[in-house]
Amino acid sequence: TVGKSTNIAWHECPVGRLDRQKLLGQKGCVIWITGLSGSGKSTLACALSRELYSRGCLSYVLDGDNVRHGLNKDLSFKPEDRAENIRRIGEVAKLFADAGIICIASLISPYRRDRDACRALLPEDTFIEVFMNMPLEVCEARDVKGLYKLARAGKIKGFTGIDDPYEPPSNCEILIQQKDGLCPSPAAMADQVILYLDRNG
Ligand code: PPS
Repeated sequence: TVGKSTNIAWHECPVGRLDRQKLLGQKGCVIWITGLSGSGKSTLACALSRELYSRGCLSYVLDGDNVRHGLNKDLSFKPEDRAENIRRIGEVAKLFADAGIICIASLISPYRRDRDACRALLPEDTFIEVFMNMPLEVCEARDVKGLYKLARAGKIKGFTGIDDPYEPPSNCEILIQQKDGLCPSPAAMADQVILYLDRNG
């Protein structure tokens, strides 16, 4: 699907990114939350969007599970489909950021190359990668959707962390992890991201 459009031109619009930023009083960016299933990505995305809303900031959550109900419902979990899932969400997130919105993308995005390709789509400093560094045992023990159990029983093939790889980021902006064996609360995780946003304008 990539690279098939030919004979096309780019049209500039008189109202640009900076105009929209001024109108909204905020800078658009992408907060990319990556991690295993059950690591708390959606929990953080929800807590963060609530906190931003209460501060008068416009955000929008692109959740992998949700986007697979519509735009990406034609995609499976084989590596090339995951890559396409991530590419599409990266492109949509880029549009949201260009619109001046704080776009919170929450998806496993297990392969480093795919995440780095999304980073490369965005202007410098507007792609903020958040790594949910939760041990597999913790995610598996939670097993909110019962999918780990099915994967262990061989009823789901190619499940991330079980028989499909997860490549942790080497250059993430924000690391979320346990402290003294305890997982941070949703509010504490959201605060960590907000602090980063405040410190980085
Ligand atoms: S990916 O890898 O980024 O394309 O995945 P994503 O779009 O985030 O979708 C992850 C959710 O799909 C469910 N699910 C699976 N996850 C991992 N591996 C396999 N094989 C799989 N099959 C279904 C699972 O509920 C994921 O949701 P989260 O919210 O991450 O638990």
